[in-house]
Amino acid sequence: MKLFSTELNSMNDLLVVQLEDLYDAEQRLVKALPKMAEASNTAQLRQAFEQHLTETEGHVSRLERIFGQLGVEPKRETCQAMKGLIAEGEEMIGAKGSPDVKDAALIAAAQRVEHYEMSGYGSARTFAQRLGHTDIANTLQQTLREEAAADEKLTQIAESSVNIQATARTASASQSR
Ligand SMILES: [Fe+2]
Ligand SMILES: [Fe+2]
Repeated sequence: MKLFSTELNSMNDLLVVQLEDLYDAEQRLVKALPKMAEASNTAQLRQAFEQHLTETEGHVSRLERIFGQLGVEPKRETCQAMKGLIAEGEEMIGAKGSPDVKDAALIAAAQRVEHYEMSGYGSARTFAQRLGHTDIANTLQQTLREEAAADEKLTQIAESSVNIQATARTASASQSR
């Protein structure tokens, strides 16, 4: 989110700024998610990232539709927070060491992203609702649900397999030293 020199004279201005921020964030994710998928050690995690990539492409299209409904041109406002979160994800992608622990690290990085998106969509949805844009609010809520589902899926993968394997294998690695 840009912190300075944004003109906010109405809640409508604020809604548009929020959408521009999300539009930038989502497009960054379309580029980042294939790298997360490729870096995954397990098929289950790779598939989760690939599935969310498809959803994320849908999020971009939904935002474009919303801009159209509001009668404004789709514009990207550099999302500094998402840039930072993706940079942290890339740090995990480039990390050396146990592939299982790396999967756990990829999940942790991805969940930060999902939570950030959820908070952005939650605000935008509430502003749209307040402005009487019921259709737009519903579309934003639909995306929010998909972000929450992606987050839950990552929790499930972490708790049911990745974290267990990462703990078991690294425990035996440190014992054999
Ligand atoms: Fe998204
Ligand atoms: Fe997402």
